[in-house]
Amino acid sequence: MTGQRKLHIKSYGCQMNAYDSHRMADILASQGYAETALPEDADLIILNTCHIRAKAAEKVYSELGRVRKLKERAEQDGRRMLIGVAGCVAQAEGEEILRRAPAVDLVFGPQNYHRLPDLVEKAERQSGVIDTEFPVEDKFDMLPAPSPAAVKARGVSAFVTVQEGCDKFCTFCVVPYTRGAETSRPVAKIIAEARQLADAGVREITLIGQNVNAYHGDGLDGRPSTLGRLLHALAATPGVKRLRYTTSHPCDVDDSLVAAHRELPSLTPYLHLPAQSGSDRVLAAMNRRHTRADYLGVIERMRRARPDIAFSSDFIVGFPGESAADFRATLALIDEVGYAGAFSFKYSPRPGTPAADMQAQVDDEIKSERLAELQDLIERHQRRFNAACRGRAFEVLLEKPGRRPGQLVGRSPYLQPVQVDASADRIGEIVTVMIAEIGSNSLFGNLPASTGVSPDLDRTPAAMGA
Ligand code: 5AD
Ligand code: SF4
Repeated sequence: MTGQRKLHIKSYGCQMNAYDSHRMADILASQGYAETALPEDADLIILNTCHIRAKAAEKVYSELGRVRKLKERAEQDGRRMLIGVAGCVAQAEGEEILRRAPAVDLVFGPQNYHRLPDLVEKAERQSGVIDTEFPVEDKFDMLPAPSPAAVKARGVSAFVTVQEGCDKFCTFCVVPYTRGAETSRPVAKIIAEARQLADAGVREITLIGQNVNAYHGDGLDGRPSTLGRLLHALAATPGVKRLRYTTSHPCDVDDSLVAAHRELPSLTPYLHLPAQSGSDRVLAAMNRRHTRADYLGVIERMRRARPDIAFSSDFIVGFPGESAADFRATLALIDEVGYAGAFSFKYSPRPGTPAADMQAQVDDEIKSERLAELQDLIERHQRRFNAACRGRAFEVLLEKPGRRPGQLVGRSPYLQPVQVDASADRIGEIVTVMIAEIGSNSLFGNLPASTGVSPDLDRTPAAMGA
């Protein structure tokens, strides 16, 4: 095959998928594939799918309908187009995808994409190639490093997968089935990846994993490390100016992670800590392995270590058996913690998970009412948190052109987008910004030089709580 081929990847769902999509592009780049934003131009289209809720999974099939038409059009023009389905729907449904969508040429799971060159070559010769076995080899050892040009194109903030899979088996969740058992990458390999990214201009690294704080990869001394120790090691990596991690389980917050928040200025004071529910009865039925009091204990420990820390969470409403009183307990938890933001979902029964077979499934109408009420409360907390940011000085990593010419947009430590008047050559800098205005989606700030305000960082917590 000669000439450059074109690849279009569409990523759904979580940040793990976004990271995996980049790595798929990296390995296919070594085979002569260049990325295109236009699916109709592609020789290979990959849908990197999400299976977490029914809606996410259904999206794949409607998108496959659209992609099939592009494939037919390409064939009418005498051009071959391959369609691949990757990610958690591929892992969970395998052959079912080929039955429902015969235009698909290859199906491969999250642990198999390092084999893409072989899979694509096979798919060029035969129809319906499937690879969803959990392999013995470590895919990360087989993947090429991204080129410096690819890293630059992806921006100054990057994800690095440090942990995959989950052994927690919350009764609503498909992750332990689609992503498999919990595994961690060795510290040395993560540091090597962080160095390459930093050398290519990345300034912020978000460590990702389905259960990231269960991290236990081999340390530099050969003994199992912890997420806290990994963060300490990464903070010493030249060029890495800011660190984040997601998503954490309340039961796996250990002293080393609390210490990392106390000791590392480059670790942002922001923690995504899914609570799912505020009712002990529901938490037990979910097999969350913690109570409401345990959860609040973690919040308290973190606040003592880092008083300016803010929290976000995930919530599920309408879990089987959730009563009005259980739901009120969740609302009360939200008031007690005073989140900076949260994601919330109606419970979606997933085939093969224990909760899907539980009695007392909640009516969809009640789920919708509860979701609206919960989202309203979260929004009020988020507005209050944002309003309390006015007049504070934040460290902002300038990431890309902003809303207006002459503006850049970056992120505050709390992940809020911040619009700042600054020239494009400052992308990649962490600057101190005085927050002047609060918009509905962004904060607006000034560099101290233009305000004359001292650049001392404000470390006082925002006024929060009910
Ligand atoms: N139904 C609804 N929400 C779910 N989540 C995971 N599984 C389900 C489900 N079956 C939510 C949880 C999790 C987030 C990633 O998705 O809140 O933290
Ligand atoms: Fe799913 Fe998270 Fe529970 Fe693991 S800890 S089963 S990923 S919700």
